[in-house]
Amino acid sequence: MRMRSGTPGRVGVFAAVVALTAAMAGCGTERASSDAGGQDRGLGTAFRDPDAPRRGKYLFDAANCVGCHTDARNGGARLAGGKAIDTPFGAYFSRNITPDPTYGIGHWSDRDFLRALRQGISPRGAHYFPAFPFPSFTGMTDRDILDIKAYLMTQEAVALPNKPHDVPFPFDVRATMVLWRLLYFSAGPLEPDPARSAEWNRGAYLANAVSHCGECHTPRNFLGALNNARRFAGARLAGPTAKRVPNITPHASDGIGAWSLDDIATVLKTGMTPEGDFVAAPMSEVVEGTARLTDSDRRSIGIYLKSLPAQPGKGG
Ligand code: HEC
Ligand code: HEC
Repeated sequence: MRMRSGTPGRVGVFAAVVALTAAMAGCGTERASSDAGGQDRGLGTAFRDPDAPRRGKYLFDAANCVGCHTDARNGGARLAGGKAIDTPFGAYFSRNITPDPTYGIGHWSDRDFLRALRQGISPRGAHYFPAFPFPSFTGMTDRDILDIKAYLMTQEAVALPNKPHDVPFPFDVRATMVLWRLLYFSAGPLEPDPARSAEWNRGAYLANAVSHCGECHTPRNFLGALNNARRFAGARLAGPTAKRVPNITPHASDGIGAWSLDDIATVLKTGMTPEGDFVAAPMSEVVEGTARLTDSDRRSIGIYLKSLPAQPGKGG
């Protein structure tokens, strides 16, 4: 287990959360969902739309699904999961999202997939942990989510079973998410802001929903929820490196207030900062995806970032 020292209250609070949640939700086992689950293939037209996989690939890159769902360091097969996602509570392992019918998501209906990304709930009704950034993906439109599914279904199936998470009790109890969700989760999709330009709205959609920049750049509270009052103000990554994630609000000295729109678009295209340095991992992995976006989408992200309230603090 990789809990940080100096957080004695965390387990106690979580134990209370578990007790409360157990009362609310019964035991932590997976329950069959009330809707048609795997039978329903009637939702959406993504599968019948021959252009859906191409559109889905674009969003899949923007979201860097491959980065979390491939255990590249250990030579894992593409999209077959098993990569450890470090959190202050321990390591959660990503899952096999190849079209394998047994170990992957090959048998999932469109509705199953929508519910996973929009609601953070599995086909069998179990709650996902937010190491899977569904609290960001929930902002995506139905069509974009189903386009990603259409792309995934064109990828190679890999028959590799999922790994259990390496987190201590109670952080492995899915039912604890019932209360967490009541406190911190609101389902999307994101509503466009009619007072803003189309470019700003596109940037907000990419930064907050698809590319989930805030999942790393926004600090979290002690229960792992994003502190959106300090959105994009910088944070620290969990895990052994405890790397600092910079403030990307327009604060002049602590953030990227001195960066031009072109500077932001350039770092997202090439990884190079205005000082001529190249961003390191995991930002370099994010850039592998944002490098494939259109210039106009990278510019939109920049327009959105520049509109944020400047926040002091260098992150972490
Ligand atoms: C930050 C890392 C991360 C990113 C980025 C990420 N995932 Fe995941 N994903 C996870 C983790 C961890 C889980 C397991 C969650 C759990 O067990 O509660 C997961 C679970 C899933 C599941 C559930 C699979 C199952 O068998 O129940 C699906 C579907 C999924 N992710 C799809 C995606 C897609 C599509 C993208 C890109 C749009 C994506 N993920 C991006 C970490 C990530
Ligand atoms: C997986 C975590 C993660 C995600 C997601 C992420 N970043 Fe980063 N970002 C980092 C880290 C870590 C660094 C510091 C990299 C380094 O040390 O070189 C960074 C650096 C940056 C920098 C350079 C800032 C500076 O002062 O040098 C910018 C700009 C940036 N990110 C923007 C974004 C945008 C925009 C998004 C969404 C499209 C995003 N990031 C998504 C982790 C992330």
